[in-house]
Parts: sequence; structure tokens; C-alpha cells
Amino acid sequence: MTISGGGDFPASLLLVGAGRMGSALLQGWLKLGLDPGGVHVLDPAPSPELQAFCTTVGVKLGVPATPPEVLVLAIKPQTLASAAPALVSLAAPTTLVISILAGKTLKTLADHLPSAGAFVRAMPNLPAAIGAGITGAVADPAVTPEQKRKADALLAAGGRVEWLGDEDLIDAVTAVSGSGPAYVFYLAECLAEAGIVEGLPPAVAERLARATIEGAGALLAALPEVAAAKLRADVTSPGGTTEAALAELKGGDALPKLIARAVAAARKRAQQLSG
Ligand SMILES: NC(=O)c1ccc[n+]([C@@H]2O[C@H](COP(=O)([O-])OP(=O)(O)OC[C@H]3O[C@@H](n4cnc5c(N)ncnc54)[C@H](OP(=O)(O)O)[C@@H]3O)[C@@H](O)[C@H]2O)c1
Repeated sequence: MTISGGGDFPASLLLVGAGRMGSALLQGWLKLGLDPGGVHVLDPAPSPELQAFCTTVGVKLGVPATPPEVLVLAIKPQTLASAAPALVSLAAPTTLVISILAGKTLKTLADHLPSAGAFVRAMPNLPAAIGAGITGAVADPAVTPEQKRKADALLAAGGRVEWLGDEDLIDAVTAVSGSGPAYVFYLAECLAEAGIVEGLPPAVAERLARATIEGAGALLAALPEVAAAKLRADVTSPGGTTEAALAELKGGDALPKLIARAVAAARKRAQQLSG
């Protein structure tokens, strides 16, 4: 179910971890109207840029005096165990914890932060850094409808939000959209390399491959009601060049099988990393 698009921000928020993802989300929230006066950022070694940014926009660095309405966890998954003890007193039964930590289950989060009242586990992807991502999210049963609206508003700063009814599906989300941008970047690399083999100068091949993927993505975005399969069929004239290429990609189900194997491998790895 997609319910994104609201501007229902919490009055107080603590962001734990202001690295790549945390900083990008913070910038998105402020741009969309989150009151900086209610925001604290906790990071062990804030960079001069982060310090300057916080001063400029009026966000406080450090811990709040009282537990926030929402605590967003954006540290590396492997630092959860060492970071959690200092966070327990910062989370109250009224605090909603939103975690974007890959592989950390709702149960693991609750075990580390038993003082918090409710948890949302989310898996954004890299384009969230420019507001063009998609996030899969799951809420534990203690999350109230109001807390879910607030979580949705915060996660929607990174792009679209897909709420899942079953936490087990998060590993599949990780395998499709979490890791997915890297598959597309790899396609851009392969397409450029193939162009070089066909005689194009490397820089030209790279620009052609990159712009092709940008343009195809922009078309998908501009025509949300048109299935990708229809867009493909529309540019595939019988007996033409695209059909010749697609015959190779589809031959013996080559590409579908390869993508299915890649996604299954990512899902299996996500499952192994969970805990
Ligand atoms: N990047 C992605 O595409 C992506 C996609 C989906 C999910 N995620 C998830 O997002 C999370 C953050 O990823 P990232 O790429 O933004 O990592 P990152 O750039 O390394 O950011 C993590 C930040 O947390 C800080 N930190 C470490 N220990 C802390 C503590 N005890 N208290 C407060 N802050 C602490 C780090 O500071 P130091 O650098 O000084 O240690 C760093 O600034 C990860 O859990 C990842 O699974 C990322």
C-alpha cells in the first residue's frame, strides 16, 4: 500500500547518525517543512560541513533534554550494538524509532532499545539522497496510525514509500530496490563497454549509455500508467534492430533468468545478514 505524500512531521526528532543517508534525509525533511527547532542530530565526529549546516539551519547537535517523538536510526548496522546503550535513555514509551539499518529486524531493534514504544523498519535506496528513491517499510503492531503517518511523511522525503504487511518481505525489497540502483549502474557500464567493442570512442560510449538509462528512467517516471513491457514493445519494430538485440537478451530466457538469480542471491544475503 502506498500512502506517501503527507507533510505530517513530528514536533521533535532525534537523528542518530548523520552520514550519507542521514544527512540526505535531514536535508529533505527541512526542505519539506520540518521545524529545525525541534531537531537534534547525534553524530560522534560531526564534520565541519555538518556543524556549519546545523548552525545555519538552526538544528542542534547533541542529545535532547527529553526523549523525542521520533528517533531516526541512520548509523551503520554493525554499530547498533555499541551505540544502543547510550540511546536507551533517549527513547521513551512515546518515542517512535524509525530504523533504516539494513538487516536489523524489528525484534533486534526492540531488544537493543527496550525503552522505546514502537518501531518502524525501513529500507530506502540510494536515489533517496536526491528525493527520487523508493523505501520499503514495515511497522510493528505498537505503531499507532498517527505515528505511521509521521513515519510516512519522514520517509517520503526520500521519494515513494511502500508499506509492507510482512517483515519477511523486507529482504526481497532489499534485493529489488535496495541493491537495485547498482544493477542499473552496472547495466550502464556494460552498455558502454559493448559500445566500445563496436568501435565507439570510450567517452562517447559512456555518454550514450548513461544518457540512454537516464532517458529511459525519465520516460518510466513520466508515464507511470504505461507498463515497462508496453514501452519496450512500442520501440521494438518487427524485424528491426531492437528486436535483434532483444532476441539475444531473451534467448533461452537469458536475461530474465540472470536477473532472477541476482535478486535471489541478494535476498539470500540480506537474510544471512539479518539479526
Ligand atoms: N547508503 C545507502 O544507499 C543506504 C540504503 C539503504 C539503507 N542504508 C542504511 O543507512 C544506514 C547509514 O548508511 P550510510 O551510508 O549513511 O552510512 P554512513 O555514511 O557511514 O553514516 C553513518 C553515520 O553514523 C555515525 N555514527 C557512528 N556511530 C554513531 C553513534 N554511536 N551515534 C551516532 N552516530 C554514529 C557515523 O559517524 P562516523 O563516520 O564518525 O563513524 C556516520 O556519520 C546504514 O545502516 C545502511 O544500512 C543505506
